[in-house]
Amino acid sequence: MKKNVVLIGFMGSGKSSVGRQLAHRLAYRFVDTDQMIEQKAGKSISMIMEEGGEKAFRRMEQELLETLKDMPEKNVISTGGGLPIAEGNADILKQAGFVIYLRTRPETVLERLSGDTQRPLLAGPDKEKKIRGLLEYREPIYEYACHMAVDTDKKGLLELSEEIARNYSYFQRKK
Ligand code: S3P
Repeated sequence: MKKNVVLIGFMGSGKSSVGRQLAHRLAYRFVDTDQMIEQKAGKSISMIMEEGGEKAFRRMEQELLETLKDMPEKNVISTGGGLPIAEGNADILKQAGFVIYLRTRPETVLERLSGDTQRPLLAGPDKEKKIRGLLEYREPIYEYACHMAVDTDKKGLLELSEEIARNYSYFQRKK
């Protein structure tokens, strides 16, 4: 397996914050698929979805996924919450590195994202219903897509990054 850590999970699960912390701990590069897409497109995800719909954004994710395979190793890759969902993507991610699912309860997501305005899929009324609906559908896919799941609800960034680093090192030694 490649020397990368891939973080997957729902919006608000802490992929970017934990990822930065973990990258620092491992002395790896931190990359964020949402940021890469925004940089390449020269516009925000909200704008991409507004102009071309969710389909346009998913196409960009797909293109990016192909380029991840060829990246030099030693990255912590934080992925957009919907990236592992399309068929085939989970397997590509597993080839890209050690995949960790940051498992987070809907209540925690709601709490963390209550004031958020950057996630078009949760915009508008009844955020809780949207979170629960999407999470219910995606949960089994996240579980399938990962090498290991870590519960994030009651843990801080340091604790989480330490837990992941420990398991990553164990996993590498086992191979
Ligand atoms: C999405 C999650 C977002 C972003 C986009 C769609 C999703 O990323 O990719 O708004 O489908 O769950 P985060 O998980 O980093 O919020």
